[in-house]
Amino acid sequence: MAPRGHWVGALLLASTGAFAAGDAVRGQQVYEARCGGCHSVETDRVGPRHAGLFGRRAGAVPGFAYSPALVASKLVWNANTLDRWLTNPEALVPGQRMGYSLSDAAQRADVIAYLSTLKTTP
Ligand code: HEC
Repeated sequence: MAPRGHWVGALLLASTGAFAAGDAVRGQQVYEARCGGCHSVETDRVGPRHAGLFGRRAGAVPGFAYSPALVASKLVWNANTLDRWLTNPEALVPGQRMGYSLSDAAQRADVIAYLSTLKTTP
């Protein structure tokens, strides 16, 4: 028989290292339930599309009518700026136009893990 113990050990190691910050699969469910009313990955709606969000300047989707405040913020989206934005957009960027926040830190971590998988640039 194959050395079964080693195989199980490797599997455990892989699963604990996968999503240290948040769980992208749970994050997709949060996204669909909480963000999907205004956003989609590939299409601008009430809010801008999210494909290619990580590493992009705030307010940079061509053709989307952002608030002047968000465009002027010079933020770059990463796990830290997104956590602050989703906690309280108005505290991070006074004058912005997203009337929504996520108070649950675990949901923020999960949705940020999901957003980090959306690599396609618009
Ligand atoms: C009620 C509608 C609404 C909901 C719900 C909403 N958003 Fe937004 N979102 C907006 C609008 C409008 C903007 C543009 C804000 C501006 O121009 O100041 C925006 C902007 C953003 C941006 C900045 C994008 C960029 O290109 O700079 C991110 C990131 C974002 N939203 C993430 C989320 C996430 C994640 C959720 C779910 C937890 C969410 N939003 C829920 C309306 C919404």
